[in-house]
Amino acid sequence: MLGLSLGAALTVVVVAFHYARGTGWEPTADITQEVLERRASSVAETDFPEPMNRSIGGGAAAGAVPAGEGAELEGSDEAAADEESGPWDVSDDEAEYYEIEFVKQGETIEVPENEPLLDSGEEEGWDLPYACRQGQCVSCAGQITSGGNSEDYVVHDDQQMLETPELDDGYTLTCVAYPKDDFAIETGEAP
Ligand code: FES
Repeated sequence: MLGLSLGAALTVVVVAFHYARGTGWEPTADITQEVLERRASSVAETDFPEPMNRSIGGGAAAGAVPAGEGAELEGSDEAAADEESGPWDVSDDEAEYYEIEFVKQGETIEVPENEPLLDSGEEEGWDLPYACRQGQCVSCAGQITSGGNSEDYVVHDDQQMLETPELDDGYTLTCVAYPKDDFAIETGEAP
């Protein structure tokens, strides 16, 4: 009798649990935006245009630059450096020519001030070394043997590889070297 009573009671409890309403499961709220905004508000204001990582939640979409600041960026030193003028801007009509002796090739050619030494040599049909053609390696290096710093003889268009002592020894990157005087050069000579 006792067993029957217990069994009936347990059955009632199980049925009651089955039909009881749960407390309801709620997914965890997405607080990402809230956290980003809180973090952005803790970053100090600056006068300069903000880099991407500081514009999160700052009132503008990430990476967006307000019109006024955009104008500032365009006028920045970096933009100016990118557009720096040089002999490469001189028109063919106005370009001066210089006598360049390519020692290993045994020839002297006239090279205009608006043309890199590498290009001029290639136009002669010479197989001169090069790789990047952007002043960022030393594959095209040559040595000006007329004495003194190579930049007494050429204008480099943004070469990034040669240090002052190497320039002092006459080394130049022919892919970005524009002549501004007569000189002799040995191609295929790297420091
Ligand atoms: S080819 Fe790379 S620096 Fe001239």
